[in-house]
Amino acid sequence: MAPSQLKHKRKQKKAKDSSWIYIIAPLLVLLGGVLMLGYITFTSDNLRDKEDPAANQWAVEYWRTPIPDQGNPPPEFHLLAQRVEAKNCKGCHVDKFAEWSSSLHSHAMGPGVYGQYFHFNESSKAECNICHAPMSEQWEDTLDVNKNWEQNPEFNKVLFEEGVTCAACHLRQHQRNAPPLRPGKESLSQALHGEPVRTPFFQASEFCKGCHQHKPDTLKIGGNTIENTYIEWLESPAYEQGRTCQSCHMPDRKHLWKGIHDKEMTASGVTINHSVSSNTPKSGSSFSATLTIKNTGTGHMFPTYTTPAVFLKAAFLNKQGQAIPNFYEEKIIQRRLDMSTNPWTEFFDTRLAPNESLTLEFHKTVPPEAASFQLWIWVEPDEFYEGFFRTTLKNSQTHEGRAQLEDALQTTLDRQYPLFSKTLSVAADAN
Ligand code: HEC
Ligand code: HEC
Ligand code: HEC
Ligand code: HEC
Ligand code: HEC
Repeated sequence: MAPSQLKHKRKQKKAKDSSWIYIIAPLLVLLGGVLMLGYITFTSDNLRDKEDPAANQWAVEYWRTPIPDQGNPPPEFHLLAQRVEAKNCKGCHVDKFAEWSSSLHSHAMGPGVYGQYFHFNESSKAECNICHAPMSEQWEDTLDVNKNWEQNPEFNKVLFEEGVTCAACHLRQHQRNAPPLRPGKESLSQALHGEPVRTPFFQASEFCKGCHQHKPDTLKIGGNTIENTYIEWLESPAYEQGRTCQSCHMPDRKHLWKGIHDKEMTASGVTINHSVSSNTPKSGSSFSATLTIKNTGTGHMFPTYTTPAVFLKAAFLNKQGQAIPNFYEEKIIQRRLDMSTNPWTEFFDTRLAPNESLTLEFHKTVPPEAASFQLWIWVEPDEFYEGFFRTTLKNSQTHEGRAQLEDALQTTLDRQYPLFSKTLSVAADAN
């Protein structure tokens, strides 16, 4: 479907501020439907044909959650390698540990998630753990044979705090699993923790799907699940070019998983163009500018999730650097959900499919109080969570996870950045 047709299908409703009030309860209801990493069966034959069935089947087996207990470590393993925590892998895998530590995977059990746990029962926590802390040793409570929650004697707090940790992706019953050896490299781990099982599926997008794609039987809004990255990828030119999630997010096998929280990574996925009618706008004269952003290099929608927002902005600013009312224009790129309806609906979806672009046009007469003109692109990677944390804090003054949520709110603010910016000084009155 051509991007222009897609646009017509998207609902454009006006956002109401009051919607935040309704967010918290339905969030849990929704995530209740997201249980189990899982099997994706597509309704569309076209997409099903694109899926790699062998990789998919392997991933379904590999990602059964919670990931079963590792059991006792083989005694012949090096002592450090008998441990499952990332901080022990660090002893021998210094680089991988440093990369992972700077990635969001290592922060998956951060204050924004954990702060909510204070009010969750066991099954709600389990729903989040499936993606945020998937190993059974990371679960404080587990289901016994009668499906009652009981304290987990194997609970490992350090491992829990490591979130999406090394062992979650690499260890099954202490057996290391890895991609094929790099060409020309020798395998050297035999004496330390045995030779890994090597599989090409570590390099397939299906490896990432379980946590980055909701199952098809969960809530769909406007025909799409809320997390829809893998399907977006199947429909993208990146798929046709054989570029997997790993080829963009783990170049040279690096464990950084950069995404929209990283300015350079985001810049690599888009092309930005701008024009101005004059480099020296004069007070009282007419002036125009355009700003265009095109999704030229992401393997999915820009951005893929419902949580970030990207703003195209143009304004005349006064001497204090404030935008002058009526001399400001803005366009937003986001899939914004209305969580006050049941089921949820979409306010709008203005995200850019691959090769789609959005242009902001600005035509004004330069106002007398203008000191400068600015054209910029502002990225809020956690726009949804910012509102969510604010509402939660406002609605429950005695919330036990307050300190964590305040911390998480500050983090969402610290992570905002300008992706592009151009400023022109306004020349004094033309007359
Ligand atoms: C006592 C040292 C030691 C510890 C501790 C250790 N490893 Fe290793 N591991 C090695 C060595 C040596 C190799 C082979 C050389 C290499 O690839 O870095 C290796 C190889 C691997 C490989 C395969 C890499 C390849 O060549 O493709 C994986 C995956 C791996 N280790 C995961 C882990 C994880 C996960 C942990 C922690 C739970 C861990 N290791 C702990 C020493 C260790
Ligand atoms: C299907 C997998 C999945 C499930 C289930 C899931 N999440 Fe997430 N969550 C993610 C992914 C992927 C991201 C990263 C999104 C992004 O980068 O925008 C994320 C991001 C977040 C963030 C923002 C980042 C941060 O650490 O502050 C919060 C908060 C969060 N999730 C809370 C939860 C809670 C609470 C639950 C359970 C009620 C839950 N999630 C269930 C996959 C999942
Ligand atoms: C989200 C899942 C995930 C996590 C977490 C993770 N890895 Fe990996 N790891 C992978 C994938 C996927 C590959 C293969 C990437 C490729 O070949 O493109 C890989 C490759 C490796 C390799 C082989 C690298 C090479 O250069 O040949 C090593 C060693 C390794 N990981 C160790 C670790 C260690 C140590 C940690 C924790 C500090 C860790 N991994 C955390 C998914 C993960
Ligand atoms: C052709 C390169 C490319 C491919 C392939 C690709 N990505 Fe991305 N991805 C990017 C770029 C660039 C960004 C930053 C801009 C953005 O947010 O879209 C990004 C952003 C993200 C984000 C940040 C959150 C957000 O809302 O955008 C996540 C999560 C993500 N990718 C996951 C995946 C997964 C999972 C796959 C495979 C199914 C994948 N990506 C395939 C390039 C790629
Ligand atoms: C066990 C579940 C799990 C698996 C497997 C997994 N991820 Fe993630 N990923 C997450 C969670 C949870 C987050 C969000 C962490 C947070 O911020 O709290 C995340 C965050 C990310 C981000 C950061 C996006 C941003 O907003 O900047 C990228 C990129 C990403 N993952 C890519 C991948 C790729 C590529 C793979 C496959 C090699 C993969 N992930 C496998 C759970 C997973």
